[in-house]
Amino acid sequence: MSSPDASPDAKLDPVTVMKQEVGRAAAQRVKSGSVIGLGTGSTTAYAIQYIGERLQSGDLQDVKGIPTSFQARVLAKQYGIPLTTLDEVDHMDIAIDGADEVDPNKNLIKGGGAAHTQEKIVDSLAAEFVVVVDSSKLVDQLGSTFLLPIEVLPMAMTPVMRAIEKLGGKCQLRMGVRKAGPVVSDQGNLIIDAKFDRIDDPATLEKEINNIPGVLENGLFVGVATVVLVGEVKDGVPSVREL
Ligand code: A5P
Repeated sequence: MSSPDASPDAKLDPVTVMKQEVGRAAAQRVKSGSVIGLGTGSTTAYAIQYIGERLQSGDLQDVKGIPTSFQARVLAKQYGIPLTTLDEVDHMDIAIDGADEVDPNKNLIKGGGAAHTQEKIVDSLAAEFVVVVDSSKLVDQLGSTFLLPIEVLPMAMTPVMRAIEKLGGKCQLRMGVRKAGPVVSDQGNLIIDAKFDRIDDPATLEKEINNIPGVLENGLFVGVATVVLVGEVKDGVPSVREL
């Protein structure tokens, strides 16, 4: 897999610059000796790159990563971050992961990359879960801009869709790009994207959806984030602020 960086000389678009800056800021929070949850997505990819660069320069030592997806595993390997598993550790110091929406209470929608099941396991185990987003991800209410991803066992797809419709969600099966047929998760399951007109009570909806037989996990992350770092570009100057 190639570096998430474009060539050093290329003029980067503001969104890429925000992702890089926030990824770098999150990587700076990692301390030597840490066990790190490695999230998924284009923003976290920069954090993984910068953690690798800190390791290579000797600024950071003796860390181990726990990847949340095939993508994170490949990037960690590419940037020389040693990996471990949840079976081998009894704690996780920090997890760094992106999000598709962030509300003012630091609740999230995740799963744009179909990795939210492993992400929720890893992110919720970390003593500190650092969310890395660009400012376009901030919303007043979850569900405003992004459909809610739900991972479902293939044989349960139809009854799960019916049950979600009863909860007020309009469902669509996520289809592959440059692949015929549906997106298949790292676990071999399908992804339903559900549009809810309003998500007034994300904590209750998260539980209601996960209670439907056949649902593995949904993309509502309620009360999991510790810190949200927001990348911004104002007047051409990039900066990172904490929500
Ligand atoms: C992966 O399933 C997602 O939860 C990502 O973390 C989320 O989609 C954010 O990705 P980007 O940083 O690429 O926007």
